[in-house]
Amino acid sequence: LANGVARTPPMGWNSWNHFHCDIDEKTIKSTADAIVSTGLARLGYKYVNLDDCWAEGERDNVGNLRAKASTFPSGIKALADYVHSKGLKLGIYADAGKRTCSNKMPGSLGHEYQDAKIFAEWGVDYLKYDNCYNDGSKPQTRYAAMSRALRNAGRLILFSLCEWGQEDPAKWAGSYGHSWRTTGDINDTWASITSIADSNNIWGRYAGPGRWNDPDMLEVGNGGMNIEEYRSHFSIWALMKAPLLIGCDVRSASKETLTILGNKEVIDVNQDSLGVQGRKIRSNGGLEVWAGPLSGKRVVVVLWNRSQARAIISVKWREIGLSPSTLVAVRDLWKHSFVSMNKRYRMGAYVAGHACKMYIMIPVRG
Ligand code: GLA
Repeated sequence: LANGVARTPPMGWNSWNHFHCDIDEKTIKSTADAIVSTGLARLGYKYVNLDDCWAEGERDNVGNLRAKASTFPSGIKALADYVHSKGLKLGIYADAGKRTCSNKMPGSLGHEYQDAKIFAEWGVDYLKYDNCYNDGSKPQTRYAAMSRALRNAGRLILFSLCEWGQEDPAKWAGSYGHSWRTTGDINDTWASITSIADSNNIWGRYAGPGRWNDPDMLEVGNGGMNIEEYRSHFSIWALMKAPLLIGCDVRSASKETLTILGNKEVIDVNQDSLGVQGRKIRSNGGLEVWAGPLSGKRVVVVLWNRSQARAIISVKWREIGLSPSTLVAVRDLWKHSFVSMNKRYRMGAYVAGHACKMYIMIPVRG
């Protein structure tokens, strides 16, 4: 949606992947504190997003959603004020059906204007809008209704559509919102991130400033994968111009986790002003080349080894849109150093099983 919001992919944190329904205002506030104290806020992670289960099971006597008194006793307005006081933004969660996916809160179907208005009053900056318990009508209609309501609510609110790729949202969701889920839910496994990467990949041409494919939130730091796998997950999500929504407990995140999520060179790829989604160029036997253009005629390349064994993966300039004779400086974004200042034609590297190498190719001449 071209209204100035999300000109680059949204960055922040969301409660679902780690906490599921087990959230309260203390957890959210201390997470906001940690996003600042770890330096993640400075790197661009600015949305602090509540997912499912923040509200009471029923609306109040005038039909408004209300924060669950036992877990959010101070209310959402106070929480938004707190998050804003840290220089961050607050996101919230609702559903285009009768109930949210947990079935613990009312949905917003038929209450779009009322809910958008109260979110705006509370100072909410981001809405993730889910698709459970809907009435069987087209998501196009139900998501358009909330999109209109948000645009009439008097506050700029990022609109994130979550209908799990059911009606090819890449083809229409950009008229209504700023990102759309292209797949079912992620989980903290190698099988999940590889299959989601492939499913999200096919919609690449629909992405651009203000409109992003969403392959779901990050699992980095949740414990189900090893460090190379998490590096691959983060690298490919960044290259695909995915929203970078941290999904672990930032307050207890390890140094390794923070090093992955805090890799500024990788984040800069994700936030590049060109906003073109990188894509899979080639795969043989799990040895993959992913690439895409960046501003300044640069090209990002990920050599991704999906097999178990260490292997050489190589890439030719002409596969990634560079003429073969172009002289290129090759920057390694995980080593933070140049591996060459004057490469031509092609390059190759050893990549460990389930690991990746991520480079920016910077043309210097030719
Ligand atoms: C759906 C969404 C998830 C999460 C849960 C909450 O499954 O796809 O991202 O929001 O609902 O119940």
